[in-house]
Amino acid sequence: MSILKIEKAEAFNEVITDIAADKSISHRCAIFSLLSDKTSFIRNYLQAEDTLCTLNIIKALGAKIENENSILRITPPTKITEPSLILDCGNSGTAMRLLIGLLSSTEGFFVLHGDKYLANRPMKRITTPLKKIGANIDGRQNSDLSPICIRGAKLKPFDYKSPIASAQVKSALILSALNTNAPSFFAEPELSRDHTERMLKGMGVDIEYKNDKIAINPPKKPLHPLDITVPADPSSAFFFAVAAAIIPNSRVILKNILLNKTRIEAFKILQRMGTQIEFVQKDDKYESIGDITVRYAPLKAVKISENISWLIDELPALSIAFACASGISSVRNAKELRIKESDRISTIVKNLKLCGINVTELEDGYDIEGGTFKNAVFNSFGDHRIAMSFAIASLLCGGVVEDADCIDTSFPNFTNILKKISVAESLQWR
Ligand code: S3P
Repeated sequence: MSILKIEKAEAFNEVITDIAADKSISHRCAIFSLLSDKTSFIRNYLQAEDTLCTLNIIKALGAKIENENSILRITPPTKITEPSLILDCGNSGTAMRLLIGLLSSTEGFFVLHGDKYLANRPMKRITTPLKKIGANIDGRQNSDLSPICIRGAKLKPFDYKSPIASAQVKSALILSALNTNAPSFFAEPELSRDHTERMLKGMGVDIEYKNDKIAINPPKKPLHPLDITVPADPSSAFFFAVAAAIIPNSRVILKNILLNKTRIEAFKILQRMGTQIEFVQKDDKYESIGDITVRYAPLKAVKISENISWLIDELPALSIAFACASGISSVRNAKELRIKESDRISTIVKNLKLCGINVTELEDGYDIEGGTFKNAVFNSFGDHRIAMSFAIASLLCGGVVEDADCIDTSFPNFTNILKKISVAESLQWR
């Protein structure tokens, strides 16, 4: 186990060019490359534990992977290979859920598993609608928990209205629809991140929004390969945006960040709280990409109850900004936070209490009263975003984050970037 020890930071002014590549897009690049019959070229693929697990999985499914001059070349197999071993998704709900969707309509037998945290995350939101259209899936607790076993089958087209706004559910269902024989339709309560729709459209799938539904036409021929540069991940960049927003007189410029509107809502909330933020768009090929400048200004409290799916990954870091704002900030309608890599409502509340902040826990959110931080020893609860959020909180008056190895699941160079702002030491603990 490693612990991360961080000292109080002074005002900083940094340009950060090496934020980790986007995790959601990287997973999709690996998985979607199996849908073409030609080699995909992927630049800036995220080199982190989660997305490297996904590469190993597509290799086990028969893909050939080469890495030349930092360009990943993925050549798909003519037909997906039935793997002899269990497919290890590590800590990644995205990998497991998207692969359940793809493999349930692929010929062969597949077993998906992951680490002890992923083993407790619900899969029923995907396995239930898939079973209704003919998928052969089994798993612990009536197909809710992994290991998940799949015997690929011919699935029926569907018209499904998801009760939750989840890009993982949406993507799993869309992938399962590609191998059917008629159009399928998918609806969700509010738009969740839309990388799957954008990327598949770019690869030649006839996928369109029609009357609040996504219509997916199964392709008649193999899809175009991907030729893509993965932008930097806004949810990883956001940790340093919060650092600049809470340390007086600081400024940070975050380079080449994905600016998709479903992914930068947390920056917009910081802006509403008083932080000065500028977005400069530089590219708009598959996705909008640009630089984000964040300048310190005093923070005021905010109330959040809408568009939660656009904020879901950033709420832990945003909570640190709430704890520095004048007034009481509130989050509601965020029950989904309880089933992320940890129960994030409980882990945010527990850690904020440790550093002397007044917090009230609710079933679907929390209230945080801005206050003064005191030095504390935080627990990551094995959750990368909790570890990094409380590393940022530690910049205010020093702190320690225990069980910090999980940071490597999404952002292995986080600590090196943190060292530009403060003295941060990673210590191994047995
Ligand atoms: C993701 C979707 C989100 C997000 C996760 C990545 C994706 O989950 O929390 O980190 O890549 O599709 P849900 O949309 O299922 O809530």
